[in-house]
Amino acid sequence: MDVFAGEWLNLLIRWAHMVVAIGWIGTSFYFMALDYTLMKREKMNPGVMGTAWQVHGGGFYHVEKYTVAPATLPEVLHWFKWEAYLTWLTGFGLLVVQYYLHADAFLIDPAVMPLAPWQAIAISIASLAAGWFIYDGLCRSKIGDNTVWLAICVFALILIASVLYTKVFSGRGAFIHVGALVGTIMAVNVFGVIIPGQKKMIAQMIAGEKPDPRYGLVGKQRSTHNNYLTLPVLLMMVSQHYPFLFSHPHSWLIVALIIISGALIRHMLNRVDAGDDWNSYGWTLPLAAMALIGAIYVTAPQSRAVSTAGGAVTDADAQNIVTKHCLMCHARHPSHPAFKEPPKNVSLETVAEMRRYAQQIYMQTVQNRAMPMGNQTGMTDEERDTLGRWINRGK
Ligand code: HEC
Repeated sequence: MDVFAGEWLNLLIRWAHMVVAIGWIGTSFYFMALDYTLMKREKMNPGVMGTAWQVHGGGFYHVEKYTVAPATLPEVLHWFKWEAYLTWLTGFGLLVVQYYLHADAFLIDPAVMPLAPWQAIAISIASLAAGWFIYDGLCRSKIGDNTVWLAICVFALILIASVLYTKVFSGRGAFIHVGALVGTIMAVNVFGVIIPGQKKMIAQMIAGEKPDPRYGLVGKQRSTHNNYLTLPVLLMMVSQHYPFLFSHPHSWLIVALIIISGALIRHMLNRVDAGDDWNSYGWTLPLAAMALIGAIYVTAPQSRAVSTAGGAVTDADAQNIVTKHCLMCHARHPSHPAFKEPPKNVSLETVAEMRRYAQQIYMQTVQNRAMPMGNQTGMTDEERDTLGRWINRGK
């Protein structure tokens, strides 16, 4: 595909992905908060477990929640499912245009595992499916009856997946797959469990049977999982723009800290919505802060001692390295098929340009190994050191 057309396609899918994801996460926040604010009142309709009065946009809303279901099926029902389905579909579309079509640059790192693009894509798809089946199996097993144990097992599952992904993909590819796996679990929860359960209850009502309350309970359990995963998954999606996250050698640790802080913040917000006393949930705030500080601490650039041994590095030496490892992408007219313009407008054709971006080069190439992306040219640590010495010399 033409690179320019590909970029537009990428942008349009990304835009759509953001819009539907905002819709989905918005409904997740809304319905969790709604459930917490339902109150038992005198004079409730039969079958109603609680009601809430809400004010928004110049009007008053009176909402009743029926568990299991109202006595007769209403004529018109409004479902909340398309925002979830479309978030997954657009997300998968982005995975295709960004990672599958340019697997060499974005997904594969030959130093990690020299995969052919089709192999990387097959691993990607198979792992997303496998992750879902393991998660679903955990929820349906005995462990699923105990919320704390289930949470620990799902947490462990995500961490194991993040370790395994770093064994096959580039740092960037590994991190986005952790996000994609969590997103897939959330979307299939809606598609494969919550909505089918609700459809079965409706079918039972139409058949004149009493709807089975189990479907309602399972649906609520899965939608609560989704709610606690919203904040971590958002951070994993934007992680791609922050190489200090994904190029960390122990990125599973960062995944763990992100999940802990995101889920705790979500829990705190849920308790605020429920109107609980601060003393009962205030502990979440220092713990979430500690997890975040931990993430900042482990990602802090270790001043990788650029050895001062070796002779002075001339401009020509530095330029040779950049020509060999960077210019196929970072040139005005890149020769790399995935790019038509220098990425992020960082062109490194002249010594002056290399000086201009010296700090970013230092960060992306010497301190962490985000660049050269995919390291298809096999840049060595000595070359990184040499480049580092050249940058230090110019300070
Ligand atoms: C295969 C293509 C490719 C190669 C080779 C490559 N880069 Fe990059 N580079 C990219 C892409 C794509 C981005 C934008 C990444 C993003 O959006 O997070 C980028 C971004 C950058 C940035 C900007 C980072 C920022 O966010 O400010 C710098 C600096 C950089 N590269 C330096 C280098 C250096 C130095 C080399 C060679 C040692 C190199 N790159 C090799 C593709 C490449």
